[in-house]
Amino acid sequence: GSLLFIVTLVIAGLSGCGKPYLSALDPAGEVAREQYDLMMWSVWIMLFVMVVVFTIFVTVLIRFRRKKGDDSIPKQVAGNHKLEILWTIIPIVLLILIAIPTITNVFKLGDTKAMEKKKDGKHSPLVVKVRASLYWWEFEYPDYGVITSQELVVPTDQKIYFQVKASDVKHSFWIPSVGGKLDANTDNVNKFWLEIDHKKAEEAGNVFYGKCAELCGPSHSLMDFRVKAVSQSEFQNWINKMKNAKETKTTTALAQEGLDVFKKSCISCHAVTPNDTRPEQARTAPNLATFGEREKVAGILDHNEQNIKNWIKDPSKYKPGTKMPAFGNKLSDQEVDALAAYLMTLKAGK
Ligand code: CUA
Repeated sequence: GSLLFIVTLVIAGLSGCGKPYLSALDPAGEVAREQYDLMMWSVWIMLFVMVVVFTIFVTVLIRFRRKKGDDSIPKQVAGNHKLEILWTIIPIVLLILIAIPTITNVFKLGDTKAMEKKKDGKHSPLVVKVRASLYWWEFEYPDYGVITSQELVVPTDQKIYFQVKASDVKHSFWIPSVGGKLDANTDNVNKFWLEIDHKKAEEAGNVFYGKCAELCGPSHSLMDFRVKAVSQSEFQNWINKMKNAKETKTTTALAQEGLDVFKKSCISCHAVTPNDTRPEQARTAPNLATFGEREKVAGILDHNEQNIKNWIKDPSKYKPGTKMPAFGNKLSDQEVDALAAYLMTLKAGK
């Protein structure tokens, strides 16, 4: 019990790190708040156990210590039914006290009947399909025909139903201040819902951070994603913009050259429009629709042309084990420059 308590404190301390938007200790929605309450409830119970055990321990140390001049062997006691029954029942009661709210919460979170399809094949609530791959995330909005990657956009004050799976190895979907984790498996779809308070979202600048929470390979710790939590009307605007996002007309000669390079070297894996109709097995790399408006390259690097070029030339330098090949010796510097210029033109429609 006490060891677990110390571990909990250490983890709690680490998860704080001065970033409220990445802390399970600063819950930003109903699910996160309940998970936080559960965590604190367990911590109080563990603290109680620790105090009782240490008190008895210290008392025994002092009261029954070896006294000067007393070399006799103390009374030998073996077995005490009353005590044994007592210290079996107390932990059982404590575990039941933790189990009841935990199980209640698990069933509440897993209640996803509302996400079942209606007769017209659409869902009533908002459904987001999450697909995890080494080392990136795909977010699909099946009712709108919109696919994006690395940046999840969701409305606040509304239940969002997630369907989570993985395409290669096990990952885990976690937005620390909003809730989770939910395992992403290759052979089944896990479902749960989350909700974000608009007040908390505003406090966080409308951005939360998501992480992969299952050790999946050398770049596991770099498998980050952003969560933009906006008002319901802003979310609708975003959906409309995404639905209208077409392949942007390239503006400069360099970007035009970049488009040609893209068609030659990248398009077999990366789509640039959010209405990618290929089956998911064919979607082997992040969707780059509106890539020019993103705030991170590959989910981790600052979004600027230099980082895009560095990434294209040698992605495994930044994400060891990434499936994306290095293009540093396949493309000339001029071609990489052109590609970066083209990618910056990928923006949402109006
Ligand atoms: Cu994906 Cu860890």
